[in-house]
Amino acid sequence: MITFNKISKVYSKESAALHDVSLKIPTGDFVSIVGQSGAGKSTMLKLISAQERPSEGMIVIDGWDITKIRRWQIPHLRRQIGVVFQDFKLLPKRTAFENIAFAMEVGGAPTREVRATVPHILKLVNLAERANAYPDELSGGEKQRIAIARALAYKPQILIADEPTGNLDALHSWDIVQLLIKINKLGTTVLLATHNDEIVNALKKRVVTLNDGKVVSDKKSGTYKL
Ligand SMILES: Nc1ncnc2c1ncn2[C@@H]1O[C@H](COP(=O)(O)OP(=O)(O)O)[C@@H](O)[C@H]1O
Ligand SMILES: [Mg+2]
Repeated sequence: MITFNKISKVYSKESAALHDVSLKIPTGDFVSIVGQSGAGKSTMLKLISAQERPSEGMIVIDGWDITKIRRWQIPHLRRQIGVVFQDFKLLPKRTAFENIAFAMEVGGAPTREVRATVPHILKLVNLAERANAYPDELSGGEKQRIAIARALAYKPQILIADEPTGNLDALHSWDIVQLLIKINKLGTTVLLATHNDEIVNALKKRVVTLNDGKVVSDKKSGTYKL
């Protein structure tokens, strides 16, 4: 369970990126976070991965008050949270396999475990046959699948995806969303920040709408109109 309790985030004095946001996300949920550019979607996700700290309020993840997290505890938190970005952030000089392996090695996984796990994850994202391709040789949709595979390397409990389809055409976007659904079905909580209304409406899952840093609606099987 992820709990936001009266969370505010102020970057600069003039405006609040988030204002008094309270929210509960049960383990295993699939939540789309929607709203216009600047609404606070990315800020919400960054607070969960402790990339940013809230100005006020409390965030609890599985009983752990991460508002009070110490710097040395952050790697432990991050291992529980896979993160996917709009621009993939793959290492260009490393193959698909190596991108995933590198993330695991940085996290301290032994070589034996890396060798055993990477093929399995590549298979999960349907890219086993592209293991030795460099990012340059992959389509946008394939790049994002590798980025998702990398995010899954630690078997995170939570996957946060910030506009993962923002650089993809409709077909590849849907591909990525199908993959997020599959990952969610395997038990991972998925938070998807997006302003792609077609995807959100097709998902028929929970939709939290932000406007000017406030939650303006939270619907179980929601829709979104731009
Ligand atoms: N690092 C930052 N410094 C200052 N202001 C920021 C920073 N990040 C975001 N903001 C501001 O906070 C608000 C919410 O931004 P963001 O969470 O990125 O929204 P979204 O992802 O919905 O587009 C915006 O007004 C944005 O300009
Ligand atoms: Mg954003």
